[in-house]
Amino acid sequence: MEGKVVLVTGGSSGIGLSICKYLLTKGCKVFGTSRKVKNGEIQKDITMVRMDVSDRESIKNAVDYVVQSTNRLDVLVNNAGLGMAGSIEDSSTEEIEEIFKTNVFGLLDCCRAVIPQMRKQHSGQIINISSIAGEFGLPFRGVYSASKSAVDRFSETLRMELAQWNIHVSIMQPGDFKTNINQTRRVAAKGLSDESQYREVFRKEYKVISIFAPILRTTNNCNDNKQNLYDDKARRGRSEQYRENH
Ligand SMILES: NC(=O)c1ccc[n+]([C@@H]2O[C@H](COP(=O)([O-])OP(=O)(O)OC[C@H]3O[C@@H](n4cnc5c(N)ncnc54)[C@H](OP(=O)(O)O)[C@@H]3O)[C@@H](O)[C@H]2O)c1
Repeated sequence: MEGKVVLVTGGSSGIGLSICKYLLTKGCKVFGTSRKVKNGEIQKDITMVRMDVSDRESIKNAVDYVVQSTNRLDVLVNNAGLGMAGSIEDSSTEEIEEIFKTNVFGLLDCCRAVIPQMRKQHSGQIINISSIAGEFGLPFRGVYSASKSAVDRFSETLRMELAQWNIHVSIMQPGDFKTNINQTRRVAAKGLSDESQYREVFRKEYKVISIFAPILRTTNNCNDNKQNLYDDKARRGRSEQYRENH
């Protein structure tokens, strides 16, 4: 990994920040993204680049910044993402769109932005951070699960389409990790209102999702687990799926 140029979307906190820090120790030239930084700003030893994955222009600017600074881009880690809680019936199309804009369409736009450079290099690696939740639907987590399933299916196809240019695509499916995802998780507005037919059960379940689960997650601190998350398995192959402890 020494000397590889890596761009990690959502490098400002949680799993993305942990990936950035770990890859720095491996001698990579790491760029992390956030919506709240200026290009080139150093944050927690990471060179930051401004990017909002729901804004194509900002994705292009961020990728251009990295390529102009280093003349290459070896690895893209598509990590930026948002959680969502709410029944399918209570989740509005607008609420679902916001999750898909970040977790799916933003991720695909980031892939499209780096592929031409990787093709020119005849090498590259794209790692899409999915979730174990992409494997099944759970009550009140359906929107998030569906967004991660979409990431998995898109990634499978991309892997085959891009292999001809020596561009490798993998997904990682973490279980629960203690990060800021709990604070940024969207909630279907109707779900917590008295109008909702699910209100009793959803309120109980939401407490579990937002209050108890983070407490139980203390053993899955992404910093403590970085060795097994990013080292052992990520190194083993390029086309496999990795499910993490939860
Ligand atoms: N934590 C878990 O238990 C868990 C489990 C499975 C999968 N995951 C996945 O892991 C990834 C990272 O999540 P996390 O748990 O580390 O959450 P986190 O601590 O909340 O970090 C989310 C990151 O995504 C960025 N982000 C959010 N919306 C963005 C947007 N529109 N444009 C650009 N960046 C955006 C944030 O950056 P700024 O706010 O600074 O812009 C932040 O750096 C997500 O894809 C999540 O679905 C997490």
